Amino acid sequence: MTAVNPEQRVSELTKLLNDYNHQYYVLDNPTVPDAEYDRLMRELQAIEGEHPQLKSATSPSQRVGGEALDSFSQITHLKPMLSLDNAFNDDEMADFVRRLEERTGQNAEAFCCEPKLDGLAVSLLYVDGQLARAATRGDGQVGEDITQNVKTIKAIPLTLRGEDYPAQIEIRGEVFMPFAAFDGLNERAATKGEKGFANPRNAAAGSLRQLDSKITASRGLSFYAYSTGVVDGVTTPMASTHYDQLHQLKGWGVPVCPEIKRVNSLDEMISYYQDILNRRSELAYEIDGVVNKLDSIAGQDKAGFVAKAPRWAIAYKFPAQEEITTLLDVDFQVGRTGSITPVARLEPVFVGGVTVSNATLHNKDEIERLGVKIGDKVVIRRAGDVIPQIVSAVEAQRPDDAKDIEFPESCPVCDSEIERLEGEAVARCVGGLVCGAQRKEAIKHFASRKALDVDGLGDKLVEQLVDEDMIQAPSDLFNLTLPQLLNLERMGEKKAQKLLDALEASKSTTLAKFLYSLGIREVGEATASNLAQHFKTLDAIKAASVSRLTDVDDVGEIVAKHLYYFLRKDNNLEVIDSLLASGIHWPEIEEKDEAALPLVGQTWVITGTLHSMGRSEAKERIAALGAKVAGSVSAKTTMLVAGEKAGSKLTKAQDLGIKTMDEDGLTAFLAQF
Ligand code: IVH
Repeated sequence: MTAVNPEQRVSELTKLLNDYNHQYYVLDNPTVPDAEYDRLMRELQAIEGEHPQLKSATSPSQRVGGEALDSFSQITHLKPMLSLDNAFNDDEMADFVRRLEERTGQNAEAFCCEPKLDGLAVSLLYVDGQLARAATRGDGQVGEDITQNVKTIKAIPLTLRGEDYPAQIEIRGEVFMPFAAFDGLNERAATKGEKGFANPRNAAAGSLRQLDSKITASRGLSFYAYSTGVVDGVTTPMASTHYDQLHQLKGWGVPVCPEIKRVNSLDEMISYYQDILNRRSELAYEIDGVVNKLDSIAGQDKAGFVAKAPRWAIAYKFPAQEEITTLLDVDFQVGRTGSITPVARLEPVFVGGVTVSNATLHNKDEIERLGVKIGDKVVIRRAGDVIPQIVSAVEAQRPDDAKDIEFPESCPVCDSEIERLEGEAVARCVGGLVCGAQRKEAIKHFASRKALDVDGLGDKLVEQLVDEDMIQAPSDLFNLTLPQLLNLERMGEKKAQKLLDALEASKSTTLAKFLYSLGIREVGEATASNLAQHFKTLDAIKAASVSRLTDVDDVGEIVAKHLYYFLRKDNNLEVIDSLLASGIHWPEIEEKDEAALPLVGQTWVITGTLHSMGRSEAKERIAALGAKVAGSVSAKTTMLVAGEKAGSKLTKAQDLGIKTMDEDGLTAFLAQF
């Protein structure tokens, strides 16, 4: 065996670890699994432990964090770190360009457009290619020394690559927490019963300003550079435009946001803003607008500064996603399965582009976690198409007469008992179909498009029919008569006859839709379809044991038990019998030669909006080719179909390296069969 020279091995490991980081963070092309990175890191730490003299200040082992500090020391910036002026509409963008051109006396020919990353600004000083010092922005003049913490951020190179970088260069950019890391952090906090962070920016700030850099190391922070500060000892001159300078930085191994774009006019800046706003939910990190910068460095110098912001750059902000309003009251809604959901009634507030006056508070645990009271000022967040959420209560502004939110002791609709099973966050009314609210929801579900699809039977009409005591259960729908319907307000003969025809037509369905229409807990559309395919007949499903039920794709123990017990309750069996007696029927399911189907053994996931077909149609067609269609992305996913505004599932699939296809790809793919 040849003795390994520790010095040589340290240098090999340093190079490998730096290369892997660079491939991952700058080239966006990971080449080795995390486990390999971790193994090499441990080997390096072991050698450095035995030979401390071999441990350099920019060794990759610094990434794991070091001794905790008592306090941060202060750093005076070599050049002040500025902030940006804001624009909120296209007119203000036009003003920006006009002022800039007046000031410089020349046409602004090109701009560099960048996402405005929602994290915190840092300054990184590299001396002879080594990360020597890192500081927060602070007040723009003086920041805090966070060198030790910054070294743990894998996206930030400890050593610049290549040879032609300046002897001294200050690189500025944003440290941020990608959504994946943010969600993970908050999930871990929740399991420990701790309060999470309200948003990724707070999480990034809280993680970067830790005296113990080992904590920072565990938080998954990332970084994109957006400018340079002081540059000295130039070997190759810095490029003459901002866009090219960012690419120079990238060449030296510093990550730059891949969304940056050079454009040539005001119109193009506005299109860029629209494009990024539309794709905001697809990005792996939070942004709150775009930053537009005059591209020419000579032009920037001419334009200069006013107060603390440059005249050559502007932030074009997105509409706020968070606003403050007052919690006026809390109502309790009863869902189809009896779930009791507290709903916040809010002083209407404009947020994320719409006026919000209600928000769900989810359940009792969530109310406790938020510590919110009626009368409180609350922070409301509406991001993209996501339903509005209450993020936090502003305790400092709590009025003296703020009231605790009292969870009802009995069902607010039917007064039945409320139970909360162990391990479940949700409280439920045990009234079942005795409860008017549950009856209404069950009938709405039964008639909905993905279930029996009764055309013309909308939510309002169901509520009217139940309130007038004309129907109690789904099967009663089929006993409705024309004279009865004509007694209803706003019901003419034509409309009534149409509804009766639609009810008649809905009787011809499929086993999958019928199963789904029963509203059995946890039995969604995909599960119902898998059950139907597997068992072929309703009788076979009724006869199956819990363990036979779990043989079906996507059916775990919990789903199987809900289904099994549902089918053992007399009143449910009566409902089924009377539905069948009223004439509901479906075609027999043919035996398919499963093995011959093209997608057998594959798992597909569909996300986002599809335009040429509904999501359920897409699901059916993919399943018909033999694939299992699942609801969430995991390492087992074969393909993610990403429609418009695909969000976190797309990000996750990309992170896991799973193949994706857009709507056009799907249409072309399905057309082959
Ligand atoms: S340029 C003189 N570019 O926005 C130019 N800033 O409101 C100064 N920010 O403190 C900054 N993304 O933390 C620039 N692409 C980007 C940015 C960006 C986020 C932050 C930065 C700065 C703040 C100014």
